[in-house]
Amino acid sequence: MKYVKLKTGQHYSSSFLETLLIKQSYKLIIKRIDGKNLSIIDVGCGSDIGIKLMEKNNRVIGLDIKPYFQGKRFECIIGNVHAIPLKDNTFDAVTSRSSVNYWNNKNKSISEIIRILKPGGKFFIISIKHYKRPMRYLLLLLNYIICTGKKEKIEETKYFLETALQKEEIKKLMSKFPNVKYRITNHLLIYFCIEGKKLF
Ligand SMILES: C[S@@+](CC[C@H](N)C(=O)[O-])C[C@H]1O[C@@H](n2cnc3c(N)ncnc32)[C@H](O)[C@@H]1O
Repeated sequence: MKYVKLKTGQHYSSSFLETLLIKQSYKLIIKRIDGKNLSIIDVGCGSDIGIKLMEKNNRVIGLDIKPYFQGKRFECIIGNVHAIPLKDNTFDAVTSRSSVNYWNNKNKSISEIIRILKPGGKFFIISIKHYKRPMRYLLLLLNYIICTGKKEKIEETKYFLETALQKEEIKKLMSKFPNVKYRITNHLLIYFCIEGKKLF
């Protein structure tokens, strides 16, 4: 397998509160992965925040169409989740936080994630839940505070709220994969997590 050591990338800066939230999210994922010395790939990793946390006890790489670096440079494959340039049955776990909304072909993306997982491997896909109007405004306001009013972050949150997956869509999507056992769980109050296991 060929990995690319990331040498270039856009600098990514997240506010103190945003970094705290992202770290908390990845810490919860680590608990759910529950294991050591595992090979993990973080799809749509963005910066190194999640990778640095997960690699304490594991071997972790990222995959992103357009990665950023926050602190230290990290091991990342530049590629699209729609066609992951890696072999079948390679990873013990696949994580992905706040990226699924961008995947144009979710069916293909999830089948790619399942393909690169080893049998028995787990995946965790996290994103903001679907909310109706008044609650959306409240969340945007909360986001405004967390991201200290940065315009591009507000735009991104708006996009996430508008494109949030509903439970029924998730169920329909996941029903296409008979080799997966999954459940939809709550994650940090306002997020959902599709938590799945590749059976064979
Ligand atoms: C909002 S950022 C989330 C970054 C990080 N996971 C976090 O929670 O902070 C979404 C990331 O998904 C990446 N992304 C979007 N579409 C993608 C695709 N089709 N394949 C791989 N990565 C993708 C973007 O480049 C971006 O870095």
